[in-house]
Amino acid sequence: MTSQNGTAAVADTWNFEVELASAPATADARAAVLAKPGFGQSFTDHMVLASWTEERGWHGQKVMPYGPLKVSPAAAVLHYAQEIFEGLKAYRHEDGSVWAFRPEMNAARFSRSAQRLALPQVPEQEFLAALRALVTVDEVWVPPAGSGETSLYLRPYMMATEAALSVRPAREVLFGVIASPAGPYFDTGPKPVSIWLSDTSIRATPGGTGAAKCGGNYAASLAAFAEATENGCNQVIYLDAVERRWIEESGSMNVFFVYADGRIATPELSGSILAGVTRDSVLELAADLGYKVEERRISADEWRDGVRTGEIAETFASGTAAVITPIGRVAWSGGNLPIGDHSTAEGVGPVTSSIRAALLDLQYGRTPDPRGWLARLAFPAHFPH
Ligand code: COI
Repeated sequence: MTSQNGTAAVADTWNFEVELASAPATADARAAVLAKPGFGQSFTDHMVLASWTEERGWHGQKVMPYGPLKVSPAAAVLHYAQEIFEGLKAYRHEDGSVWAFRPEMNAARFSRSAQRLALPQVPEQEFLAALRALVTVDEVWVPPAGSGETSLYLRPYMMATEAALSVRPAREVLFGVIASPAGPYFDTGPKPVSIWLSDTSIRATPGGTGAAKCGGNYAASLAAFAEATENGCNQVIYLDAVERRWIEESGSMNVFFVYADGRIATPELSGSILAGVTRDSVLELAADLGYKVEERRISADEWRDGVRTGEIAETFASGTAAVITPIGRVAWSGGNLPIGDHSTAEGVGPVTSSIRAALLDLQYGRTPDPRGWLARLAFPAHFPH
């Protein structure tokens, strides 16, 4: 971990062998990607890999050219979905330095997800070392400061590679990190999205894997996503599995409700909701801005009634990829409602805007970081090491 002044606080204990790409993207090809990165479409020249076996533990840590993996068709991940991942971003600051935002929270969640999916632990220091190793080698892929809401999205993952069809925790596992230049997650950019309130599909159940970031949760959300698209919506919001009444999350984002009286509420972490890093940060930043923040159960009826009466003025979603995305309309099988200040194509309510700006200003180093949430990842050539 490094502190904000960039001094190394601990030594990295994973040593990465580095094999540089013999044919990296040309400067022109890279510039074309960075000019219009989209989300998750282009990848950098390198990737991190590390192997784990029951006998040897972690070994073979390397940074190597980005490319296809050789995995047995009998690998447990392909059959039993024993897989987890994380998502975080590297931000370029005005002085050229590159920073992550609260990466230790991603490391901790990765560790909880690993435990839930019976995968081995990657200690926090090694997780952070892997991020630094990749971003150091591929630093030129971090979009320049001042290029809008662009960043280098980092995707750590772990999967069961053992060729074995018995249903049991795998004894061979692969950990990796890939990186992808990123612009806004939604084609709409920071404009309001429409949400489909699903009353049929359930994302997660008590005792299930809802709080883990595992591929299976996302696979299970795709049919409802297709239903949302058919109904003209960009995303789904799920209700709880038991009473089918309480709002949970959207699968890729947490959700916040802004009340006209200055309260901001988000569903409490129930075990079936992902503990978002952005969610946690919004709770703190909103309190700094003077809002009264609440983590509690919120029903679909409270949302709809609140929007109708004006008691709920704004609704927004939060996530690493989605940042803060205004929700401009909620639709369900029996109707649909435009939401207050977000209901026009351009409209973003004032509270959503102010929280969004506070978060982005912090991530891009435009405001002080009193909590030490930023961790320096890479030292461009002109920086003293
Ligand atoms: C993220 O916000 O990083 C996510 O993991 C959401 C997603 C694109 C799956």
